[in-house]
Amino acid sequence: MPRLPRQNYPDIERIIEVDFLRATEAAALNSLKWLGRGDKEAADAAASDAIRGMFDLMNICGEVVIGEGIKDNAPGIFKGEQLGTWLPGTPQFDIAVDPIDGTTNISKGAPNSISCIAAASPEEGVKVALRDVPAFYMTKLSYGARVTQYMQRRGDHLNLEAPIAETLAIVARALDKRVQDVVVMMLDRPRHKEMVEQIRRAGASLRMIGDGDIAAAMAPAIADSGVDLYLGIGGSPEAVLAAAGIKCVGGEMQCKMWPRDNDERVKLVADGYEKEIERVYSTDDLAHGKNIIFCATGISDSALLRGVRAQGATAITHSILMRAKSRTVRFIRATHDLSQKTIRLRSTNREARI
Ligand code: FBP
Repeated sequence: MPRLPRQNYPDIERIIEVDFLRATEAAALNSLKWLGRGDKEAADAAASDAIRGMFDLMNICGEVVIGEGIKDNAPGIFKGEQLGTWLPGTPQFDIAVDPIDGTTNISKGAPNSISCIAAASPEEGVKVALRDVPAFYMTKLSYGARVTQYMQRRGDHLNLEAPIAETLAIVARALDKRVQDVVVMMLDRPRHKEMVEQIRRAGASLRMIGDGDIAAAMAPAIADSGVDLYLGIGGSPEAVLAAAGIKCVGGEMQCKMWPRDNDERVKLVADGYEKEIERVYSTDDLAHGKNIIFCATGISDSALLRGVRAQGATAITHSILMRAKSRTVRFIRATHDLSQKTIRLRSTNREARI
């Protein structure tokens, strides 16, 4: 039988997904040396170098549709960048990537940093799988499948714009807990003052984090994460990555653009987004279709994943890998023998020891 010139299997994500995971593992391993060293740019550069290097080995036509790096000009991977070999006939992927979510955490040696990628291959009826939201920040509310199932059964609705006490009461009923036992995670930011007061008045239990709201927004969707609800204003690219993850694992996220000031609002209106400013986006609006892969590797511990552990001559990574189509959720604990392990780096175009 002649060899086929190109892949003829329709479920391409199933074949390629582990290579995406290798990229986030490589990013975590390559940035580990920067944990606690006070240099977030160096950590981001190391993670980006490893991700680009891994993609250089992947026979795909990948285009970054949501990149990181707009925030404080970080040395991240940017929108429009091409990843993969781009050999003719190789499969196309739209890619959303955050080489490190929680760069400040890494620089401080603090918890809550992950490396993560979402990717979507073309799908009939899906024009835009991973939505590039034009605002810098979004208000986010996310919860797990137990809450969505309860709402379907009872006809209750959670609404991003409803008073927080109402939301907490519904979540408490859905999870069969007292409101005081509902755990809400939120970024510790002055802009959340009013929300914090409302949560405390309602009596729920707050967990403030310094940075890294992809893991935090996904946490309520993960059984045993210890987090019931994520609420607050954080980056828009991070919202889309979290939505892609929640889409694969089950649960829901509601988001709305949060212009930082009048200038940003005026610009959004001038750019034609007047209606969208008022729109509440669902998980499916941000991450659309079934051909979505999501993977992440923990760098430092978070509610989603444990961080990298160095043990003698080995490093242990903890990752999650999943697809929207199958909803298979894999938690992968990998042991890397550092006497053998190499990572492909873009900067040197070679395999490098960690
Ligand atoms: P970086 O890793 O790019 O610094 O982002 C960290 C982060 O905490 C995100 O998880 C979050 O969405 C965003 O920053 C919040 O932005 P800000 O720090 O401006 O409040």
